[in-house]
Amino acid sequence: MTTTTDRTMIDALATVAREAAEGGYASALSALGRLETDGAMHGLVDAITLLLGRVEAREIRLEGLVTGTIRALVAAEDAKSQWTAGHSFRVAGLAVRVGQHLRLTRKRLRELHYAALLHDIGKIGTPERILENTTPQLAPEDFEEMKMHPVAGEEIVQKIGAEFKSIAHAIRHHHERWDGGGYPDGLAGESIPVLSRIIAVCDSYDAMRMNRPYQKGKSPQEIRGILENGRGRAWDALVVDALFAVLDAGAAG
Ligand SMILES: [Fe+2]
Repeated sequence: MTTTTDRTMIDALATVAREAAEGGYASALSALGRLETDGAMHGLVDAITLLLGRVEAREIRLEGLVTGTIRALVAAEDAKSQWTAGHSFRVAGLAVRVGQHLRLTRKRLRELHYAALLHDIGKIGTPERILENTTPQLAPEDFEEMKMHPVAGEEIVQKIGAEFKSIAHAIRHHHERWDGGGYPDGLAGESIPVLSRIIAVCDSYDAMRMNRPYQKGKSPQEIRGILENGRGRAWDALVVDALFAVLDAGAAG
């Protein structure tokens, strides 16, 4: 027969299991540590604690492996152009802070981090003479070729596996514009995936700061002016505002 105390304990364990299933291992483990148990229940809670600890350790190792593999891919892309080295890592760091400000879930933040790191991975297939271009504007045919990189990036990242489907989708659309004038699909407004809208703003922000062979990086004031001007036209106004909030909070330069 199940007593009231057992019932309460079973309910508490069910809550812990649900929390762990959502990836909240730390809070699940600390909830387990707070349970007051005796007898058989004590043994059960101990066993669940051990199990969760091992699953969490395995997940951390797996996450490290995935992140390391992605970093290696990005480093391969960075090696192609001295002018853009480090860009993807900076965009990823900033995008995650903007995503946190927009209160994305932990799962979406993880996807955002990976998509931002890999957003230009398709440039691996772009000829170096285009990447190393030293003029402010590409020749029309070179620009057309450059415009292929979001689709190439989506194709590369899709191959990682089904879990990377929405990451690949975010990469495909990172050059769309809020007003529909971007590429590759001319999506507009909220039909552009939110992760792509965040990457678009952070990508532009970092690109404007970078020194290029043909132009010096812009000042923070100039960049703010450009983003303000494109707010609601080139970029999602809410994302631009979130970036300004992150910059004002001093979380990024
Ligand atoms: Fe790009």
